[in-house]
Amino acid sequence: MGRVIEPHQTCNKQDQQPVGLDDLPTLRENDESLKDTMNHFHYDKGELFCEQQRVAELAEEFGTPCWIYSKAALLGRLKEIQTAFAAVDPVICYSVKANSNLSILKLMHDAGSSFDVVSGGELYRVKKAGADTTKVVFAGVGKTDDEIRQALEERILMFDVESEAELDAIAAIAQKMGVVAPVALRLNPDIDGKTHAKTTTGKKGNKFGMDIERADELAAKTLRTPGLAMKGIHMHIGSPILTTEPYAEAVKKGIDVVRSYRAAGHDINWMNLGGGFGISYRQNEGPPAKAYADVIVPGVQEAGCRLALEPGRFIVGNSGVLISKVIYTKREGGKLFVIQDGAMNDLVRPAMYDSFHRIWPVNPRVAMPDNVEGEIAGCEKSDVVGPICESGDYFAKDRYLPPINRGELLCTFSAGAYGTAMSSNYNSRPRAIELLIDGDQVKVIRRRENYDDLIAAELV
Ligand code: LLP
Repeated sequence: MGRVIEPHQTCNKQDQQPVGLDDLPTLRENDESLKDTMNHFHYDKGELFCEQQRVAELAEEFGTPCWIYSKAALLGRLKEIQTAFAAVDPVICYSVKANSNLSILKLMHDAGSSFDVVSGGELYRVKKAGADTTKVVFAGVGKTDDEIRQALEERILMFDVESEAELDAIAAIAQKMGVVAPVALRLNPDIDGKTHAKTTTGKKGNKFGMDIERADELAAKTLRTPGLAMKGIHMHIGSPILTTEPYAEAVKKGIDVVRSYRAAGHDINWMNLGGGFGISYRQNEGPPAKAYADVIVPGVQEAGCRLALEPGRFIVGNSGVLISKVIYTKREGGKLFVIQDGAMNDLVRPAMYDSFHRIWPVNPRVAMPDNVEGEIAGCEKSDVVGPICESGDYFAKDRYLPPINRGELLCTFSAGAYGTAMSSNYNSRPRAIELLIDGDQVKVIRRRENYDDLIAAELV
């Protein structure tokens, strides 16, 4: 057996010696260095595990590409939020869009979470998972009449209303159905969440919500309109947000709005602060839930409101990885390309947002360092790409990776959120299998698609 070496000893930049096969490190769950990023995934003597399962064995049995989720990680992250915000007894509405697999929804439901949905399809899914729909919130700028009707039939907790036209549509449908629709106005607080341009939502000029000044008029209209009951306010600033200041600012603005709406005669009890809590894609850059709670809880108490939250990424992001197999390596144009079977149809985030995912072999010849950006001893600068016919089909560019050969496995970490949820059949590639690990137990929670699945909905 090899000597056990702490990762930071083997891989800090001053120590530029390649690490020998016998010297591979053990990264156990109690190591602080990558606790968040590696959440229940760890290397033991040069081999990657999810909980107690050898990842290589899973890939052997179930094939690649293959999604692997840790049940302990999923439940642990939900629990972290539940505990951090316990003082205000929040309704946690897991954001289905982050990962909508039925087994994950069921796990969330069984652990006391409710749901944030943005479509009739998501509402259908949470019902299938056994959700109590009276605790479900419904956001999105383009709810159709059918979706509104469906949500009213399910007696959801609140619509997060994003425009006057939507408010009119909800009122008309509710009146026709002889019900009263619970609404929260989605405010655009004009706060910069300092996130990617494609995922910022709370700045003036984004398509989401309404300016606070304009929302005053709509609040007044809500009071006059039969079929509508104003329940609260909603704000979602963006995703991921790695600092707590934007939430502090949002809560401050929220308190003022709640006070002025109450003064105008609205009986409002809910402050919904959306999702967006950041996670560690690199190295412990994601704040713990408690840090967010510290700036949110006092404000919610001051406003005398109930709190709703819509976390997605925080719960699933670091709870899932994507395992791919190297098909070929090639050197062209002065570059080393590692061509793997996982591609942008599986995980589109790098192509779409230039997002960073930690990537390392499942059976590495060099210990994974705490910091995988920049030069690493014993590694070579590589582009990790997929087989799809687009130059944008990459998972990493100019990334230092240990030597890896055809047939070996690569793990892309922190892929549980917006991975499968945004996957497609582009290039007629069947979607990959999904596995949920619980200790040494493995459950297939989505089978691998086959060629028949690809054409199942098509008519000729
Ligand atoms: N609530 C609302 C109204 C949202 O729009 C979102 C995310 C969430 C909650 C959940 O945010 P989370 O807690 O997961 O950060 N595809 C992008 C992220 C798009 C986020 C869209 N809205 C990505 O892969 O980074």
